[in-house]
Amino acid sequence: METVGVAGLGTMGAGIAEVFARAGLAVVGVETDEAALRRGRAHLENSTGRAVSRGRLSPEEQQAILGRVTLATDRAAFAEADLVVEAVPELMELKLPLFADLDRVCKPSAILATNTSSLPVTEIALATDRPSRVVGMHFFNPAPVMQLVEVVGTARSTVTGEVADLARRVGKRPVVVGDRPGFVVNRLLLGYLNHACLLLDQGVASKEAIDTAMVVQAGLPMGPFALLDLIGLDTAYEICGVLHRDSGDPRHEPSRTLRNLVERGRLGRKTGGGFYDGKPGTEEGFDAMVLLRPYLVDAIEMFRSGYASQDDIDEAMKLGCGYRSGPFETVAALRTRSLDDFPELEE
Ligand SMILES: NC(=O)c1ccc[n+]([C@@H]2O[C@H](COP(=O)([O-])OP(=O)(O)OC[C@H]3O[C@@H](n4cnc5c(N)ncnc54)[C@H](O)[C@@H]3O)[C@@H](O)[C@H]2O)c1
Repeated sequence: METVGVAGLGTMGAGIAEVFARAGLAVVGVETDEAALRRGRAHLENSTGRAVSRGRLSPEEQQAILGRVTLATDRAAFAEADLVVEAVPELMELKLPLFADLDRVCKPSAILATNTSSLPVTEIALATDRPSRVVGMHFFNPAPVMQLVEVVGTARSTVTGEVADLARRVGKRPVVVGDRPGFVVNRLLLGYLNHACLLLDQGVASKEAIDTAMVVQAGLPMGPFALLDLIGLDTAYEICGVLHRDSGDPRHEPSRTLRNLVERGRLGRKTGGGFYDGKPGTEEGFDAMVLLRPYLVDAIEMFRSGYASQDDIDEAMKLGCGYRSGPFETVAALRTRSLDDFPELEE
């Protein structure tokens, strides 16, 4: 694969274009109109410019990277691409016609990939006449920095291995998984984050006590409410809704507190406040196992169902969430302490 197309040069698409161009591939970026194309180019220039000012890229390298990216408003520019990654907004009504069109303009051997976080890849693949060559390629934000890529295969995909190889070639750590809402990271992470919100709904503990316990006792880089403020409460709310429709698990049903904050426009750091307005305070009085244990059991169930290997789940949670250890490494550490606390592990 030498030429990669990227459809949509917003937050994710511009970052994905940068990943491929940095690795020496030719990139064709397509946007809806000239104004969007200028914004996409600015994203690329600013991101690589920051790397230059931090001494991570030379000005010559930056120019070489930008020189590998061709920009267009006409999808016909994808004609020679070996792979096209779609990164347009998370709406089926945008993605389905786009994939039908990509199928028409791209050469038959081209692989078509979607960066969707929550939509069914299978349905997107069926908008084309080449479902065996359609996969999910789920990058994390910011794409040039985050190493993890979830490569999502449907029952018809035959190219996940090729796409995983390409991800490795451009310096990423791929995890190949099946087409299930949330894949590995969002499924485990959002289940845990929403559970924390449900505990707030029930008045079990304060947000400060829960956050403090998850940092101090569980060793996470930040507690669930601080993390929700970072991710964006609207994004979390939507993903929980998708997970709940799929799983029916009460822990995925978007919490009242989360919904109220979203309705009030308190979406987290991007709106200046969500659960917190500033730095969270600390408080004692919550036992981290209350939240940690269901999260670990979810990971065990994900592995048992054959969805992903223990190593892949651990790597995905470390690279996708910045955790120091993955769930199975945490379980192994707990095993050495007390199995009595963890009857699920006896099976
Ligand atoms: N933002 C994140 O943190 C994140 C992380 C992982 C995955 N994703 C997924 O990536 C995708 C893109 O998200 P984003 O945050 O980059 O969105 P965004 O709104 O920042 O960018 C989308 C871009 O697509 C362009 N666009 C719209 N219709 C188009 C079309 N038909 N052809 C070409 N371009 C078109 C828009 O002009 C815009 O620039 C979504 O599916 C989202 O779920 C987002």
